[in-house]
Amino acid sequence: MHLLLTGATGYLGKHLLAGLLRAGHRVTALVRGGDPARLATVLQAFELPSGLTGAATLTVLDGDVTRADCGLDETTLAQLTRASPAAFLHCAGLTRFEAHLADELQRHNVDGSRIAWQLAQRLGIPVFHHVSTAYVAGRTRQPFGAADLDCGQAFNNPYEASKFAAECELRAAAAATGAALVIHRPSIVVGGHPLGEHNAVSTLYTFMKAVQFIRECCRRDEERGRHAFARLGFRRTGEDYHVPVRVAADPASTVNLVAIDDVVSTVLAALAQPVAGIRTCALTGSDIPIADIERAITGVMRLSGVSLVDAQAFDAAPRNAIEAHFHRVTQVYAPYLFASPSFAPRPHASPVDPVALTRDFLAQLGGGRRRRAPVGQLALGTLGIHLPRDYFSALADGAVGRHFLARHAYVNATIGFALSGSTPDVITLRFAQGTATALPADAFAGADCRYDLDAALLMRIVRGEADLRASFLAGKVRITGNTELALKFGSLLGMYYRHLDDHVLEELTA
Ligand SMILES: NC(=O)c1ccc[n+]([C@@H]2O[C@H](COP(=O)([O-])OP(=O)(O)OC[C@H]3O[C@@H](n4cnc5c(N)ncnc54)[C@H](OP(=O)(O)O)[C@@H]3O)[C@@H](O)[C@H]2O)c1
Repeated sequence: MHLLLTGATGYLGKHLLAGLLRAGHRVTALVRGGDPARLATVLQAFELPSGLTGAATLTVLDGDVTRADCGLDETTLAQLTRASPAAFLHCAGLTRFEAHLADELQRHNVDGSRIAWQLAQRLGIPVFHHVSTAYVAGRTRQPFGAADLDCGQAFNNPYEASKFAAECELRAAAAATGAALVIHRPSIVVGGHPLGEHNAVSTLYTFMKAVQFIRECCRRDEERGRHAFARLGFRRTGEDYHVPVRVAADPASTVNLVAIDDVVSTVLAALAQPVAGIRTCALTGSDIPIADIERAITGVMRLSGVSLVDAQAFDAAPRNAIEAHFHRVTQVYAPYLFASPSFAPRPHASPVDPVALTRDFLAQLGGGRRRRAPVGQLALGTLGIHLPRDYFSALADGAVGRHFLARHAYVNATIGFALSGSTPDVITLRFAQGTATALPADAFAGADCRYDLDAALLMRIVRGEADLRASFLAGKVRITGNTELALKFGSLLGMYYRHLDDHVLEELTA
């Protein structure tokens, strides 16, 4: 079978792609930027035989679902029409939950699904498979099954709302045209290779990474003889950690986890079946109590002291610095720690074991308990900082770099960054009185100094793996405006990032 696939660089998409190639299907993947090398890197973890990823079976096209026809030109559209793919598998989506991203979620998930559907119709592709989510159920507490959609529910976030709206639109379009539509509704997908590009994670893995970060901080703090964490009640005995951290959650509430292998085999089976009209596949798995998940994560990481408490507990005793960090990095998932829709059990769903998931994750992250990940890098990872824009907004919000800003409160300057590479961007910040404020795009031209560099190099500098001043001397950074100011600022940043681990520990316990 020849299929058109979106979202192949993402968590679900890469597993589906590997599954499709292993099953002998031919895939044309629409990937933003259209870089085959990027997809090859994403697929490395699957160790597919080289014959399965060659040009005969896998084609990569530059495709963005927010652009008309996904940005494909007329020649490519004509070629694809001639190739007549048997199905379109739409797995691209924006999987962020923050309220301020509502417009972006509309653009990627609702408009993007409509554009993908229209492309499938234009190419004459007979079946459209859409990856939705079980959480279109939103906040309804009535039993919610494959036959249900609109039951007047409210939503926990604009992500759920966007997936609901996309399903409604696709169903209406399919009903109007009679074209075949299959909706797949996975719950929270776990297992396989959950680490994305730049080690990005989501859902359950965000919690695992946050716990691992706290454990590493305690270890480092003790090893450096600072004992700032000991004052917050942290103790270590060999490889066992006692970390008195409160997390707002209802231990008896459940989350529904479905194994990625289960998702892949069910979607592949659905692709092989003839479809007429609209079909919905519930892809739920096991309802696991929050208390069991907490026990699994802390047990594998040999951590005691985590307690699940009411949200009101923090009114009486506000969060300490560690609890505040944990809350900051996991808060978008807060509603799921208190209530769950009630999904009908799916016969033959594969069981999910949170202990095994945690073990696998730690092994993939690079070494379980023994290996020492730099806490500075872990801090950036837990905060979801993978791109310069993430970093600078965290700096402006005070989530990172508080020490740097406080120590250099005398800096009074506007600094611009023109970033090139695969994620080009223009960012201008005003540093004054110990704060950093993001300025609108048009402020760049008037900045006191401007750095021009590759976005990936900037992230290496931020992680302490490269130095801004040295990169300038090596010709990798161009400076315009006040060069003296730029070099001074560059060396201050360099000093901060070289000792990022220390600063992160100090900022956390300040
Ligand atoms: N993960 C779960 O537990 C889960 C559960 C239920 C449903 N889902 C659904 O499954 C789908 C995939 O989720 P995921 O967890 O795999 O997310 P993910 O890891 O964030 O991957 C998202 C994928 O979508 C692509 N994408 C985003 N915007 C795009 C655009 N405008 N044009 C083309 N491609 C675009 C991304 O490409 P780039 O790499 O270029 O960003 C990436 O390949 C989503 O629709 C999500 O709603 C996921």
